[in-house]
Amino acid sequence: MQMRALITGASAGLGAEFARRLAADGFSLVLVARDAERLEALAATLPVAIEVLPADLTTEDGLELVAERLADAARPVDVLVNNAGFAVAEPFHASAIADERRMHELLAWVPTRLAHAALPGMRERGRGGILNVASLAGRLPSGTYSAAKAHVIALSRSLAAQYRSDGVVVTALLPGFVATEFHERMGVAPTSVPRAGWADASSVVRDGLRGLRTRRAVVIADWRYRLAAPIIPFIPDRVAASFGLGGRTS
Ligand SMILES: NC(=O)c1ccc[n+]([C@@H]2O[C@H](COP(=O)([O-])OP(=O)(O)OC[C@H]3O[C@@H](n4cnc5c(N)ncnc54)[C@H](OP(=O)(O)O)[C@@H]3O)[C@@H](O)[C@H]2O)c1
Repeated sequence: MQMRALITGASAGLGAEFARRLAADGFSLVLVARDAERLEALAATLPVAIEVLPADLTTEDGLELVAERLADAARPVDVLVNNAGFAVAEPFHASAIADERRMHELLAWVPTRLAHAALPGMRERGRGGILNVASLAGRLPSGTYSAAKAHVIALSRSLAAQYRSDGVVVTALLPGFVATEFHERMGVAPTSVPRAGWADASSVVRDGLRGLRTRRAVVIADWRYRLAAPIIPFIPDRVAASFGLGGRTS
């Protein structure tokens, strides 16, 4: 039986790479993002059955449209990839509160709502996977982006522990810097990280899907960041806060 995956933020970056990889693994796909044209263009390149579901997940209508699709028992979704995201570039004291709210909702509330929509069906079927794209930033006090990603990590660990015995796997994927459109959309180019320190989207996606298959609750993407991860707890807060990951504090 063909498995089906729903990917949010599938029009670019990691989401588009998840789509390519899952299609190569034989999944049929439901692709979600705001840009319908980009989703259609991606769908045209993939040799599997694809539903394009354009939605702005920061609107009530868009979010509920996707939640309803996930809860549709007649067309079950086996794997949910909560990936859509962006970061506010301005420091916290200077950012627009509407942007802070949109970011917080997209990064923290949307994965919560969509997991809530997908889980009952997955439990009933006795199998399913939820891959939440968090960030290593979620382990650092580096602004409101970090705070929202910390929510995703805690959410994933909680759901992983709670629903494992029902056959549902929940994994948080923690990338470091990845070469996608993310920083360009923020309008910033972080200069603190040399290009050699950036992971490519394909290795991040491969690590995430492997983590889901091997039932890991938390996966750090890319070997360079796995090597660096043990020093994270020792980074002073004021240094972490200056990393400039979005919604930053200075
Ligand atoms: N790149 C990094 O360095 C990095 C590091 C750690 C974690 N991450 C996380 O990885 C995830 C994917 O980011 P990326 O690097 O692939 O960035 P990206 O290339 O900018 O892609 C972001 C995706 O999110 C979608 N999106 C944005 N706002 C949306 C909305 N309101 N409703 C629906 N879809 C929306 C965008 O599509 P539309 O514009 O078409 O809506 C796009 O498909 C994010 O959660 C990000 O926080 C990224």
